[in-house]
Amino acid sequence: MEFKAGVLVVMALCVSALTSSEDSCGQRPLVASPGMSRIVGGREAPEGAWPWQVSIQIQSRHHCGGTIVSNLGVLTATHCFYKYLKISRSLFRVVAGLHVLSAPGDQTQIRSISEVKMHEDYNGVSPDNDVTLVLLSSPFDFTGHIQPVCTPHNVTHEFILNFTHCFITGWGSRYYRGRLNNRLQEAEVELIDRRTCNLITWYDGFITENMICAGLESGASDSCQGDSGGPLQCYSEDEDRFYVVGVTSFGHMCGHPRRPGVYARTSRFADWLKTSQTASASAAHKLNTRLIPALLCAALMLLLNIHTVCQQ
Ligand code: ARG
Repeated sequence: MEFKAGVLVVMALCVSALTSSEDSCGQRPLVASPGMSRIVGGREAPEGAWPWQVSIQIQSRHHCGGTIVSNLGVLTATHCFYKYLKISRSLFRVVAGLHVLSAPGDQTQIRSISEVKMHEDYNGVSPDNDVTLVLLSSPFDFTGHIQPVCTPHNVTHEFILNFTHCFITGWGSRYYRGRLNNRLQEAEVELIDRRTCNLITWYDGFITENMICAGLESGASDSCQGDSGGPLQCYSEDEDRFYVVGVTSFGHMCGHPRRPGVYARTSRFADWLKTSQTASASAAHKLNTRLIPALLCAALMLLLNIHTVCQQ
């Protein structure tokens, strides 16, 4: 009898080892859903409001933003790495659970980078396909302050999600050529359709299908230098979750009327993200974190079974 109970417990453990995964995303345990009040311009984010936001640093100095998409993967912009290929990877680090740049708290987790997967078709001039997946050398432990965001499966899914509120976040400057912000900032923005954004008086045809514009026509709400790589995240009321809809990429100066921020449109990169995530390092790690416990479980079960058989 006892052995049968033992077998059941071991089986339950085995099932959880194999199935535990990333189905929880885009929720913020420490902060309520966005209210209906409008925010124009930036303000300091409530602490823990954007648990997927990270700071990618070179020699401990903020370089770019990034977004946690899994415990080992951080989405960012290719231009954050493209011109820095000569800098040793070991000088980079990824900091999560951070609010004040100069004063990382107890909730902060720091990881080094094992691999940088830049989009193969990145075009430095346009800059089209400005997305990169950074793989960490060891996984983040998810906490109230550190969570993954959800990613849209494709363009249709992005459309169906029917976003009500979108926000940009980062430690970037408050004005063009300004200094970094020490405290994480947030601003509400509107998604701007490509046709409008491509008007002659706006970006004049520069915006590809892999980009999405967000901001306000007046320019009052925008990202700026230092925000790059960070998220444009939108809230789905139906699902009560946040999705990363864009990766901060570029803009003509900052906060200029009819020159909104331009973001790499993540719904266009869902397949790319999936392949990049399953390949190499992450696959090796999954082998360690999933398969090995599962194999141990199987061995244990076998042992228990043999034991049970002997008893009878
Ligand atoms: N390229 C900038 C960076 O590296 C982001 C600029 C965004 N500009 C804008 N006007 N929204 O941080």
